[in-house]
Amino acid sequence: MPASHTPRPKPHEPVAWLGGLTPKQFMSRHWQKRPLLVRQAFSNFKPPVSIAEVFDLCENELAQSRLVKKGPTRGRDANTRWSLAHGPFYKNKIPKLSDPNWTVLVQQVNTLLPAADRFMDAFRFIPEARLDDLMISVAGPEGGIGAHVDSYDVFLIQATGRRRWEIAENFDPTLEPDVPLKILQSFRAENDWILEPGDLLYLPPNVAHRGTAVGPGCMTWSVGFRAPGLIALADQAWSRHLDKLTDTEWADPWLGATEHPGKIPDRLLDALASRVLRSLPGRKAVEAAVAQVLSEPAPAAVFDLPKRPLSEVSFRTRACQRGLRLSPASRLLYSENRFFMNGECISPPSRKASRHILAGLADRRGLSAPDVERGCHDPELMSLLYQMYRDGWIVYH
Ligand code: SIN
Ligand code: CO
Repeated sequence: MPASHTPRPKPHEPVAWLGGLTPKQFMSRHWQKRPLLVRQAFSNFKPPVSIAEVFDLCENELAQSRLVKKGPTRGRDANTRWSLAHGPFYKNKIPKLSDPNWTVLVQQVNTLLPAADRFMDAFRFIPEARLDDLMISVAGPEGGIGAHVDSYDVFLIQATGRRRWEIAENFDPTLEPDVPLKILQSFRAENDWILEPGDLLYLPPNVAHRGTAVGPGCMTWSVGFRAPGLIALADQAWSRHLDKLTDTEWADPWLGATEHPGKIPDRLLDALASRVLRSLPGRKAVEAAVAQVLSEPAPAAVFDLPKRPLSEVSFRTRACQRGLRLSPASRLLYSENRFFMNGECISPPSRKASRHILAGLADRRGLSAPDVERGCHDPELMSLLYQMYRDGWIVYH
């Protein structure tokens, strides 16, 4: 098993790191259903991101980092033993690897480090629209974030050191009061395992779990999925739709005098309600708005613009020689002939062959030099790719 880059598995082929299951079998037996433990899923795993690089990210204001510490477990008041600090923070604030009871967690590492984005390829048999991020945690002995429950699926990969995972499918959801983290008050494990480097544990949503470092140098990689809640999704989709509407002024020259000013005139209410109903989007518009939301990059994502952008002609020559890839933070999705990138609707090229090339860029997060070459004679496709390059959304291989 290559240590740092596992290619995207094919749905019907058995995958060693899924314990010999095919992705199709994994999805039907485990996804959103039951945990899966795979010992030595990534044997000889050489993490493409080191503990030192994780600590460097804690100083980076673009990274979402947290430092969690817990006090002695048998203190006078158990509820005050957790502390949480949000980054960025200087790495000299991070305790020594051998000090107990602390952990740092950095989210969205895949949007910052191309090697971490490439690691996610192994999981890309699951649609990109559901894939969220790679979070990396490093902990000292006994460090962890306590027993909790997540509302999303997660693959937990033990990168270095060891961690005990305790899980429970039946649990009391009551949270500990007055702590800065959502910690279950009375967690009782139904199963537990110590994960060694290269081991993997998949957990579906709503399985309570607690990961506790065993010894120093514990680094865990969590590939997490996005599960947008209805209200957040509807809120973003409606506001995107409303942004596209042009406002019209209200006029009611027919309005009459009233003896009951507190009463809303029937005609007024009827006319205003009809106006609002007419503004509601149809199914296609809702789909487009939802797809745009799904293509939103991580909130803290930034796209580095090319320092000295090439002209369109030189861009085309270079792209044909070297190929292109999506920037780590870019999200490109499609549905039928519609393309959505980084929260925007993309006008698709009119040629079918060019749309096929664009779909390839979305599926593989890159185009080889011959792939680009095939589209080189379509000015519509090339100027679309050129604009993406100017925006920092795609880069050369
Ligand atoms: C961790 O890596 O410490 C936490 C991951 C999780 O529980 O989801
Ligand atoms: Co969790």
